[in-house]
Amino acid sequence: MRILFTGGTGKAGRHVIPYLLAQGHQVLNVDLVPFDHPGVDNRIADISDAGQMADVMQSYANLAELDAGTGMPRFDAVVHFAAIPRILLRSDNEAFRINTIGTYNVIDAALKAGIRKVIFASSETTYGICFADGEIKPDYIPIDEDHPTVPHDSYAMSKVCNEVTARSFQARSGADVYGLRINNVIEPDEYAQIFPDFIHDPDQRRRNIFAYIDARDLGQMVECCLQKDGLGYEVFNVANDDHSVDLTTSDLIDRYYADVPKTREMGENETFFSNKKARDMVGFAPQHSWRDQIGVTGK
Ligand SMILES: NC(=O)c1ccc[n+]([C@@H]2O[C@H](COP(=O)([O-])OP(=O)(O)OC[C@H]3O[C@@H](n4cnc5c(N)ncnc54)[C@H](O)[C@@H]3O)[C@@H](O)[C@H]2O)c1
Repeated sequence: MRILFTGGTGKAGRHVIPYLLAQGHQVLNVDLVPFDHPGVDNRIADISDAGQMADVMQSYANLAELDAGTGMPRFDAVVHFAAIPRILLRSDNEAFRINTIGTYNVIDAALKAGIRKVIFASSETTYGICFADGEIKPDYIPIDEDHPTVPHDSYAMSKVCNEVTARSFQARSGADVYGLRINNVIEPDEYAQIFPDFIHDPDQRRRNIFAYIDARDLGQMVECCLQKDGLGYEVFNVANDDHSVDLTTSDLIDRYYADVPKTREMGENETFFSNKKARDMVGFAPQHSWRDQIGVTGK
């Protein structure tokens, strides 16, 4: 597929794009900063500028595409990751502005260009736990996509707003628009760097509901969504099968969630951020676990 990817230079994109290239796709990265990687075409453009998004959605990816002389090819799909990726980087209202108008512009321009598949990055933070003032616990565990999304912070508010925007664009167009409620993205190098601390200090992981997503497995999830047509609007939790600390799930429940309703029995190391919907609907099957990378001793 010929894919336009926004924000591909960032933490997640620089693993997801190579994954997509390895599946045989062509990728044009649209970002404020180029991604210097073999086989990736880059276009510097700002998602908060509607004109720039309208332009890039109908553009040549590289000089070689001029050679056929058959006009500009259409993108088969858009993967939209560009964003201010958390609170405390920009002013709250500026992050909200960029994330919301940026997502509006990207989806609007994609659909007007006739592109029928848009996959966009939402976030675990929509559930309101990650950036809460003090501690907010889940309404129930494991958290599935039906859990309320009433966050208090501007970043997560922007992601909830984006889901509403995406849903409305899907309803009007009939295209496939899939949102990914991505958990804390972990790059391969980070297992050795930060997991030795994480796994023995579960408090550090409470705001992420103890979950994580390997950046390469996030690539697999994007690929699953590219391959699955006809779902209309859907939103998916994206997390690895296990949680990120060296305690069993029942130990974690006893320590942190004893008063939280449980909707079912859970596996020994099962994540509280349910990926069942992604498994069932698009065939997501994460391959990487910190347990295979460093072992429970943190070595
Ligand atoms: N990293 C995580 O743990 C995590 C978790 C949940 C959701 N997400 C979401 O996943 C996506 C990717 O996150 P990330 O960690 O790679 O973030 P990142 O900040 O590392 O990358 C974001 C990219 O977007 C680009 N960008 C920012 N503003 C832009 C603009 N106005 N126009 C064009 N490009 C712009 C940046 O240059 C950067 O390359 C984001 O939407 C983020 O909100 C990330």
